[in-house]
Order: sequence, then C-alpha cells, then structure tokens
Amino acid sequence: MDQFQFHNPTKLIFGKGQLEQLRQEVPRYGSKVLLVYGGGSIKKSGLYDRVVAILQELGVKITELAGVEPNPRLSTVHRGVELCQSEGIDLVLAVGGGSVLDCAKAIAVGAKYDGDMWDFAERKAAPVDALPLGTVLTMAATGSEMNGNSVITNEETQEKLGWGSKLAYPVFSILEPANTATLPKEQTVYGMVDIMSHVFEHYFHHTPNTPVQDGFCETVLRTVIETAPLLINDLENETYRETILYCGTMALNGVLNMGLSGDWATHNIEHAVSAVYDIPHGGGLAILFPNWMKHVMHHDIARFKRLAIQVFEVDPAGKSDEEIAEAGIEALRAFWDSIGAPSRLSDYQIDDSKLELMADKAVRFGAFGNFAQLEKQDVLDIYRSSL
Ligand code: NZQ
Ligand code: ZN
Repeated sequence: MDQFQFHNPTKLIFGKGQLEQLRQEVPRYGSKVLLVYGGGSIKKSGLYDRVVAILQELGVKITELAGVEPNPRLSTVHRGVELCQSEGIDLVLAVGGGSVLDCAKAIAVGAKYDGDMWDFAERKAAPVDALPLGTVLTMAATGSEMNGNSVITNEETQEKLGWGSKLAYPVFSILEPANTATLPKEQTVYGMVDIMSHVFEHYFHHTPNTPVQDGFCETVLRTVIETAPLLINDLENETYRETILYCGTMALNGVLNMGLSGDWATHNIEHAVSAVYDIPHGGGLAILFPNWMKHVMHHDIARFKRLAIQVFEVDPAGKSDEEIAEAGIEALRAFWDSIGAPSRLSDYQIDDSKLELMADKAVRFGAFGNFAQLEKQDVLDIYRSSL
C-alpha cells in the first residue's frame, strides 16, 4: 500500500424514515436555506413536499434554485451563487441525483469566492471557504453524497470538468432507499454502470499488497451484478434499492481506494463525450469501459484475469491468461447488454465527426491514467473502437 490518510467528514444518515433527521441537522447551520433541485422528479415523487414541510416547521427561510440539469451547467451554478450572496444563505440543501449535488457543491464554494467558480475546474485557483452543504439523495450512482468531487459543464466552451475540494464534502447526507424507488429503469441502469465503473477505476492499479481493497472491490462488483437483474424487474423493491444505494456510496467515498491510486482514465474520456454530446454519464461509461479494458489489458494481464475469475466466474480451464482476461471483458459487455445499457456511440447518434475535438478535450491537462497512461492517440483509438 501507499501511505495514506483517510478523513471523510460527511455524516452519512442512511435508511428508512431518515429524512426526519433534517430536523436535527438543518438548525445546526442556520435559518436561511438554498433548496437546490432538478427538473421536477422530487415534486412528482412527493419528496419536495416532505422536505419543505420539515423546513417550514423548523421556521427556515427557503430560497429555491430549481431546474438543475443532468450534466449541471455553469450558468446554473452562477444563479445559485448569486442567490446565496443576495439572500445571505446559511446552508445549501441539495435534493436530487448526482447532478443536483454537484451543482450544489459548486454553489457552496462559489458563494465564498470573489472570482468565478470555474477557476476551480480549470485548476487556476482552489477553494478556501465554502457554505455548508447538506444533501438528500434520490439516485444511486455518483457517490457525490459522500465525497468532495463535482463535475460541471461549461456550456459556452463545451467543457465538462471535474474538480474536488475537502471543502466540498457534504456536512450531512440523507439516504432513504425509498427516495430512489421512483427512478426509471434507464436511469437505474446508468446508475449501476456508474457504480461498477467507479469500482473498476480503483481496481485497476499497480500498488502492491492491497488484498482487502481488491476483495472489497470484487464484493461490490459481485453485489451489483447479482442485484441489477432483480432490481430492473422490480424497480420499487426497497431491499434491492437499499443494496444498490449502499454500493453507490461505498464505491466512491474513499474507502475502496485507501492506500492505492486508481486509474480514472475512462471517466476522463467519458466526460469529454458528454461535454460535447450531453449524453448521460453512465451511458457513456457503458460504451467506453470495455473498450478501454481491451486497449490497456496488456499492462497487467494478471489483474484482468483475476477480475474474470473472481467477479465474472470465467472458467480458466484450458485457456491462456490472455483468453481468460478477454473472456472477463466479454462477460462485462454481455452483462451490461443484458440490463439494457448502451454499447456503441452510435446508440446516441454519435459518429466520427467530433472524435478529434473530444480527444483534445480529454488531454486538456496532458496524458492521463494511472494504470495505463493514455495519450491523445490512445483516446482516439478507444473512441474509434466504440463507434
Ligand atoms: O432532474 P430531475 O427531475 O430530478 O430528474 C433526474 C434526472 O433527469 C432523474 N432522477 C434522479 N432521481 C430520481 C430521478 N427521477 C425519478 N426519481 C428519482 N428518484 O434522473 C436523471 C439523472 O439525474 P442525474 O443527477 O443527472 O444523475 P447522476 O446521479 O447519474 O449524476 C450524473 C452527474 O454526476 C457526474 C456525472 O458526470 C454527471 O454530470 N458525476 C459526479 C461524480 C461525483 N460528484 O463524484 C462522479 C461521477 O463519476 C460522475 O462523473
Ligand atoms: Zn462516474
């Protein structure tokens, strides 16, 4: 293992009926709340009414920022920052999926910064202060509920950049499985692909002596693989929702990657696609990840062999290491196909006309990837094999 420090400051409040905990949490931070949410799913599900009722009983002054887009936009962040400053907001409360949470994180740091929050995404500056952020999560996918990361799209420049800060961790996150039960099948699949992809990003590393971390990763992967087919045929089943919700948080809250540096190239390659075409993040990952795997397999065949055997139950008998590794990648492809995830860029009507543009965006900060370092040509090869 590499040396590491682990400190996750988010209070995770998980389980049935836990929305009530807003009554304890919100007053700790003040009485003026910016309520941030998306395109209306929380109004349809009734969650909006439940949250507002609790806030009203607490005597909180609510200011609303509605309409946060999937792949949240910088202009929406700016609107939120202005509201925080003009209304003297004490707490940002995000109710929604990863996009709403990421937008709220950007607002929370942007509200305490003199310049444009985009400076953080461009690595021109780092946050030095932030408003506290609380979240009520409605979708298992990003892990944003218990990490300090956020991904924002600058619609003017067609850039989608991730940034992170210790100051962007939510102070609390409330996760009720029932709040994810209204998520449609398509988004449920995207979420599960994203969760598995986060685990893959950790799993492909070269750090020695990580038996527990590798085993944890395999357990999360096997659990999603077992639960996904049950959940997509029974979308309101709270037990399956609970399992996937827990997987989503664990996949990206820093636990699985203690003491190791994961790869993260595929996320970067995907963000460049969704920057240009505004496709769902999980959909892009489902297309790209198996092709990244094939592209980099030779960097450590043993690791791919282990994935194939431990997670996809590939029978190694009579196969070379390379054949076992390839069978594992094919099993992943077949699994994602079986739950209805997209497999080609053409599924989103993406052709080869903007591959150069996307590849340039992916290498904006130079070569990338810890398991296998990728240059622009590698990115182009992966895009071409994904058409
Ligand atoms: O906007 P509303 O109406 O709320 O509808 C949303 C949205 O249309 C809907 N939805 C969410 N919960 C629902 C629901 N519909 C019905 N019932 C519910 N319970 O689902 C749609 C997608 O939501 P979104 O928040 O965009 O999805 P997700 O959680 O996958 O977030 C994706 C964003 O997170 C970024 C992605 O790049 C993308 O921008 N990521 C953030 C990360 C992080 N902060 O750590 C890491 C990830 O790798 C990822 O890059
Ligand atoms: Zn992701």
